[in-house]
Amino acid sequence: MTDLAHLESGRDSMAFWAPFTPMRQFKQQAMMFSSAQGMYYTTTNGRQVLDAMAGLWCVNAGHGQAKITEAIREAAGRLDFVSSFKMSHPAALRMAERLIDVAPAGMEQVFFTNSGSEAVDTALKIARAYHQARGDCRRTRFIGRAKGYHGMGFGGLSVSGIGRQKRDFGPLLGEVAHLPLPYDASMRFSAGQPEGGLQYAHALTQLLEIQDPGTVAAVIIEPVTGSGGVYPPPVGYLHVLREICDRHGILLIFDEVITGFGRLGSSFAAQALGVTPDIMTTAKGLTNGAVPMGGVIVSAAVYQAFMRGPENAIELMHGYTYSAHPLACAAGLATLEVHAEQGINEQARAIEPLWQACALALQGVQWVVDIRAIGLLCAVELAPREGAVGARGAAVAQSCFEHGVLVRGSGDTIVISPPLVITRDQVAQIFDTLRSAILSVA
Ligand SMILES: Cc1ncc(COP(=O)(O)O)c(C=O)c1O
Repeated sequence: MTDLAHLESGRDSMAFWAPFTPMRQFKQQAMMFSSAQGMYYTTTNGRQVLDAMAGLWCVNAGHGQAKITEAIREAAGRLDFVSSFKMSHPAALRMAERLIDVAPAGMEQVFFTNSGSEAVDTALKIARAYHQARGDCRRTRFIGRAKGYHGMGFGGLSVSGIGRQKRDFGPLLGEVAHLPLPYDASMRFSAGQPEGGLQYAHALTQLLEIQDPGTVAAVIIEPVTGSGGVYPPPVGYLHVLREICDRHGILLIFDEVITGFGRLGSSFAAQALGVTPDIMTTAKGLTNGAVPMGGVIVSAAVYQAFMRGPENAIELMHGYTYSAHPLACAAGLATLEVHAEQGINEQARAIEPLWQACALALQGVQWVVDIRAIGLLCAVELAPREGAVGARGAAVAQSCFEHGVLVRGSGDTIVISPPLVITRDQVAQIFDTLRSAILSVA
């Protein structure tokens, strides 16, 4: 932690309103970083901290990848900006092509946004407009899932399954229902996809009996719940959802903002888990976190549904000033090259068994009530302190930070998602530090 009074720029920080941050605490003491390289941040007071969060689930290839930095520098000096409304630039077209190259077979077209939240809202709009374009105007409802996080736009928030995040902002989209979280006590301490739990996928059929399937535009889920606490789907769960959606003409949207770019050892979770959606969102790892960018990738069938009517008519009345920004495209293309050249997905797959073994080795440690690990993601859930939900999680995260490891405390759950270039020693360091922190803070 840095006492802001000692910072040269401390007074400036008083104007900064930070996202998802208790501001009055932050103004007293903030975690402040000045640089990053590889697996490490350097704090403003010169301490090295192992980044076990990949920034915020985004720096999948590690910090300061030279090729990405250089590509951004070069692009900034050549073409600072060009609109994507009725025009474009070569890197945008190349970026879309390269992305389709690594996307699941059948995905055909990419719409660029600037964040995951914009990608989600875009995906929801595309889903509704797809049905409209086909003359199926009754399909306006969405189905999300408990604990789903889909960003902070009104659309994403509406389909989100985290009530606390919606509380202050209603009314949201009214036409939303939610599936249950496909997880229960029988699946505790799991590595990879848990067995059982297909009833949670069949819950969609029950929901559709209530909703009238002909009114549902899309089901949106994270293939693996991320921010809500790392909940992998049970074996076969996604296949059943896919089958039910197909049966009822409902689009299936995977929000792959976290699960893309190697987090599960493949370009997307769709490939790792063997189910292809109709629409998928991406962001974060797309540019290795270096420039804001998101995208919506749609199947050939979805895209083709829009390609009707007069040729001079805009098919999708939607877009952002900075869609396909030249700097973001440069960063994205370089990221894809880095992933291919350095075998980032392969690195993730190679370290995954050790990752999961080290995570599960915390079973039995005092206060640890559940561990969920999949790909290079993991959640260690702690029993809350009596009358102080979240306090133990915050104290453990703080202790880890003081001992040189940055993890995310989300309530009483410690969530870890390191850059995929992590070494075996660094995996051990993370879990050793976490174990000591859990035992020391009590
Ligand atoms: C699954 C998912 N969707 C959407 C978002 C929102 O992305 P952003 O914060 O870039 O708007 C996030 C962010 O964590 C996410 O995890």
